[in-house]
Amino acid sequence: MGFDLSGKRVAVLGAGKMGGILLKALLEKGLLSPKSTFATVQHEERARALSEKLGVMVGTDNLAAVRNADIIFVCVKPQVVQEVMEQIRPNISSKQLVISVAASVPTSQIEKALGIEVAVIRAMPNTPCVLGCGMTALCKGKFVNAQQVETACALFDIVGKTVVVDEKHMDAVTGLSASGPAYIYIILESLAEAGVKVGLPRDVATLLAAQTTLGAATVVLETGDHVDRGRILHQHERVHACHDQRQAGRPALTDVVAVYLVFGPRFAPRVVVLLRFGRQLEFLGHELPRLPAAQLVLPRARQIERRGGP
Ligand SMILES: NC(=O)c1ccc[n+]([C@@H]2O[C@H](COP(=O)([O-])OP(=O)(O)OC[C@H]3O[C@@H](n4cnc5c(N)ncnc54)[C@H](OP(=O)(O)O)[C@@H]3O)[C@@H](O)[C@H]2O)c1
Repeated sequence: MGFDLSGKRVAVLGAGKMGGILLKALLEKGLLSPKSTFATVQHEERARALSEKLGVMVGTDNLAAVRNADIIFVCVKPQVVQEVMEQIRPNISSKQLVISVAASVPTSQIEKALGIEVAVIRAMPNTPCVLGCGMTALCKGKFVNAQQVETACALFDIVGKTVVVDEKHMDAVTGLSASGPAYIYIILESLAEAGVKVGLPRDVATLLAAQTTLGAATVVLETGDHVDRGRILHQHERVHACHDQRQAGRPALTDVVAVYLVFGPRFAPRVVVLLRFGRQLEFLGHELPRLPAAQLVLPRARQIERRGGP
């Protein structure tokens, strides 16, 4: 990789779940040097444990951590950002790059809290970053130059893919790619449950569901082929396949998925979650999820929501 941070001092404020994922990945890839990396957490005992685990300096003093740092990651919870920015303000200079992953905290709030013209990038990664297959969208504040955007992209490329968007899209990104994994797990588990219902061993059903989800996503990523195209091409055959299966007295898998999602007491709450996901996508200007199961489930889920129960 043609990107080198050696010699740069990096501070990670709030090395919890997301801060910890980023810190660990950047250290493992050799992008950060342990002796120039500083992290903070709230609790002393966690600081000691993390320091031992990662081999970097971890403390609870944010102001000390950012002194002479070239890059500062802000990974504390959104409600703590203002307080932490006010703490570090005395040690902030216009040469530093601040990268915040805090959901829904605008770059302007951080710029204002820091009180000088400093480069602030707002990023929204997701949890699959832990295995290097995350998705991060980032946007720049008022005082960011092209090289700083490139630096931020290179940092997040270590843990997955990165895209630059306008700040006005960041809440939509949070709804889609940052919250998205939770919805995909529900859909994936529901597909696997449907497989179990029609007789597959659970481990096989889970493998089929997971690899199928991965495969479909890979096709879209690799070929750029829109999901719709495949849907239109196969819709006809699928309808016939379902019809043939019903004729033969066997339930079609999509039917089983729908029935499980809608009627199974264990799955009823998931219908509501699916419905919310659909709403989020509507909010984003897209149609409802195009998964066959979701298509079958959503109208019924709306009914359930209207009635206040199944
Ligand atoms: N998790 C995600 O999927 C995700 C995705 C995208 C963005 N984010 C953003 O990432 C940020 C952190 O979320 P998270 O899920 O990683 O939360 P988390 O696991 O609770 O991590 C927060 C960390 O902040 C530390 N902390 C609290 N107050 C502090 C202070 N005053 N100074 C320094 N450190 C302090 C905590 O210390 P202790 O460990 O000692 O309690 C903890 O390590 C949030 O702003 C969130 O919006 C999260």
